[in-house]
Amino acid sequence: MPDPAVHREALTSRVIALTGATGFIGGVLAQRLEAEGWQVRALVRLSSVKPRLAGMVTQWVIGDLEDMDSLRRLVCGAEAIVHCAGAVRGASQDYFNRVNNAGVARLAQAATEHYPPPRFLMISSLAAREPDISPYAASKRQGEAALAATAKETDWTVFRPPAVYGPGDRELLPLLRWIGRGIALVPGAGHARRFSLLYVEDLAGAVIKWLESDGCGGDIFELHDDRSGGYTWGDVIKTIALLRARPVLRVRVPVTVAATLTRLNLMAAKTMGYAPMLTPGKLRELMHPDWVCDNTPFSKATGWKPQIPLEEGLLRTLGWHDES
Ligand SMILES: NC(=O)c1ccc[n+]([C@@H]2O[C@H](COP(=O)([O-])OP(=O)(O)OC[C@H]3O[C@@H](n4cnc5c(N)ncnc54)[C@H](OP(=O)(O)O)[C@@H]3O)[C@@H](O)[C@H]2O)c1
Repeated sequence: MPDPAVHREALTSRVIALTGATGFIGGVLAQRLEAEGWQVRALVRLSSVKPRLAGMVTQWVIGDLEDMDSLRRLVCGAEAIVHCAGAVRGASQDYFNRVNNAGVARLAQAATEHYPPPRFLMISSLAAREPDISPYAASKRQGEAALAATAKETDWTVFRPPAVYGPGDRELLPLLRWIGRGIALVPGAGHARRFSLLYVEDLAGAVIKWLESDGCGGDIFELHDDRSGGYTWGDVIKTIALLRARPVLRVRVPVTVAATLTRLNLMAAKTMGYAPMLTPGKLRELMHPDWVCDNTPFSKATGWKPQIPLEEGLLRTLGWHDES
C-alpha cells in the first residue's frame, strides 16, 4: 500500500536524485539543476569525497551503484532520478557490466520500491547503438535494456549523447588541447569517419527540458549540437586552426601502430591495476565510420534546441574565450 505521506513529499519537494555528480558531465548537471531550483541529492563514493564538493549540491549520499542501501537512501522521496554515473574507462567486460548494466538495474529497482516511482533519466551513450563494438558499448546497451525491464511502471527515458565536450572533460579535451597547440594526432584516414558532438551545457539544457516535459516516457533519444551530418576530424582541426589563426600540423597515426599501443596499454592496465582509457575497444569506437545522430525526435517532443555551436564550444573548452 503506498504511503500517502511519501507520495505528498515526492510531489512537493523538488528533490532530484543524481548519480555521477563527481564526474565531468554530472558536475555540470548538478550545478545547472541547483541553479534551476532543484534540491540535488547526489551519490558520492567514499573514495571520491573531497573538500571541493562542499556546498556543490543540497545533499550528498555516500554510497556506490553496487550498494543497494545507499541507492534506496538516494532515491527516497525524489521526484526524479538522473542517472549519469558510468564506467567510461576499464580493462574488462565484467567491470563495465557491473557499473553500466547491473548498476542501472539496481538503481531502477530502488526507484520502483517507491510510490509513485520517480521519473528516471539514464544518460547512456551513442555507443549503445553499436553494442558489438566494445565492452563499454555492450554494457551501455545492456544497461538500457535493464532499465526498460526493471522500471516497467516507471516513466523512464534514455539519452544517447555522442562525444560530449567542455571544460573538465577527460576524454576529448587532451586531444583538443594538442590540436590547440598545433598538433593533431589522427588514427587512420580521419576523413572517412563522421561523428556528432555535443557541448556539455547543451546536454544539461536537455535534462532541464526533459524535467519540464512529460511526453518522453519509454523512449531513447539521440542528442547533438544540430550540425546536420556531423563532423570529420578535418572539420574540427580546421575550426581550431581558424580560432588560433595558425595552421595545425596533422600527423596520421597508422592504425596498426594505434592498435599495438592500445593492446600494450590494456596489458599494462591489467598488470598495474589502473582503468585504461585507450584500449582496443576504444580504438574500434574511434575508427567507426558513423557516429552521426539525429536529435529531431527529442526536439519535437520537448522544444529543446542546442545553443552552442562548435566554434563557441571550442573557445569555452580550450579557455580561449577571454583571449579572442
Ligand atoms: N564524456 C562523454 O563524451 C560521454 C558521451 C556519451 C555518454 N557519456 C556518459 O555520461 C556519463 C558520465 O560520463 P563522464 O564523461 O562525466 O564520466 P566521468 O567524468 O568519468 O564520471 C563518471 C561518474 O560516474 C561515477 N561512478 C563510476 N562508477 C561508479 C560506481 N560504481 N558507483 C557510483 N558512481 C560511480 C564516478 O564517480 P567517481 O568520481 O567516484 O569515480 C563519476 O562521478 C557516463 O554514463 C558516460 O557513459 C559520456
